[in-house]
Amino acid sequence: MDASLTWFPVARTADVTTTPVAVGAGGRAYVVVRLPPRGEVTAFPARCPHRLVPLAAGRVEGGRLVCPAHGWRFDGEGRCTQVPSMGDDGCPPPRADLRRPWAVEERHGWVWLAPEPTTTLPPRPVSTPRPEPTPEPPVPTGPVFDNLAPALAHAWHPVLLSRELRRGGWSQVRLLGCTWNLSRAADGSLAVEPAAFGLRERLGLIWLAPAEPADAPLEVPELADRRFVAGWLPPVRSPGPAGPLADTFLDATHGPFVHAATIGAADRARVDPGELQREPGGFRSVQEQWVENPLDPEVATGGRPLRQRRRTTYTYRVPFRLRLRQEFLDSGAATTLLYLLQPEDLDSTRVYTCLLVSDGPGRPLPTPARMAEQVALQRRILAEDVRSQETLAVPGLPLDPRDEVHVPADRLGVALREALCDFLVAGRTRRTAA
Ligand code: FES
Ligand SMILES: [Fe+2]
Repeated sequence: MDASLTWFPVARTADVTTTPVAVGAGGRAYVVVRLPPRGEVTAFPARCPHRLVPLAAGRVEGGRLVCPAHGWRFDGEGRCTQVPSMGDDGCPPPRADLRRPWAVEERHGWVWLAPEPTTTLPPRPVSTPRPEPTPEPPVPTGPVFDNLAPALAHAWHPVLLSRELRRGGWSQVRLLGCTWNLSRAADGSLAVEPAAFGLRERLGLIWLAPAEPADAPLEVPELADRRFVAGWLPPVRSPGPAGPLADTFLDATHGPFVHAATIGAADRARVDPGELQREPGGFRSVQEQWVENPLDPEVATGGRPLRQRRRTTYTYRVPFRLRLRQEFLDSGAATTLLYLLQPEDLDSTRVYTCLLVSDGPGRPLPTPARMAEQVALQRRILAEDVRSQETLAVPGLPLDPRDEVHVPADRLGVALREALCDFLVAGRTRRTAA
């Protein structure tokens, strides 16, 4: 008999509250939760359909289950009732609804779950039921872009900050599942074992290309602009693949939820997708919004209004290089963030982050104390992103559109998936030709 055609005890009734609990039934992963406190138990699939975040990390608010990543809300029928990035009048797409199991019942002090239709009732247990171990939430069924994709050999990857390798020193790094021994001679020149196509220094980092690279450079004009002061965050390790992390850095809709403790409260939930321009090896997107700028000293003196125009420019280059620039158009003050990712192993990515700050033309350079404060804030924000990757636990960035649900605000995420698909295809063509 198919194991899913029956009832499974999944939790004691007393243990199910308004905090979602991950459970397993017939080898499938679910969450059970009470939407009204002391109301009936509802069961949902383990992952949110949007970006596959486990719903066990969600919360209940106003009788709805709220996903922790972008705040999509689900009612007791599994219907998606709100997508915050679409605004209050937005209509969630039908695919955003959760496919619930056939039934969930509370009997004999236990919560029972039937994944598929059954004509029986939950049995009266003769001894204490033993719920099955909770399975991992399911992974995407289609292809994913992971940290060992063969195409990644044909790209430049950051492997160390330049200052992490002194003259006469050596260091072992991981890249694409292999160990590489880097050394710097007394004259400053670099060497690598095993042999690679190339090794170079650029943007304050050491870069390694295992095979002939086919990627386009990421230009960072701020590094040569004397109005900007740069500060590197200490590199951190994310316990997952680089693709979903790059997706997060391009995502303007997770702020109010993932970064609620730092900058999120200031972000609007509604996001209007900006224009997207394809460029060689990636894309660029520019958005303009009116926001409050209390940090502008001219606001206090009445020289400029509190609400000002801010332009945000995202620049992406395959496989995992991003530049995010935010500038206030009236004052010229600008902040740029570089996110450069090193795909170490299937479940490990090293993240290099550089912050570049300018207070605008005619203004003094940001002081070391202000830079230290800004770097500390960016470290806290990055730690929130890394924690969200830990929760996500997927093997790579899904490339099949059927594995996720995209809404208009996900335009850059969709462009990222398309750019990585093109990169994979180009890599395959290159290997076939060779
Ligand atoms: S709202 Fe659930 S992953 Fe985005
Ligand atoms: Fe973030």
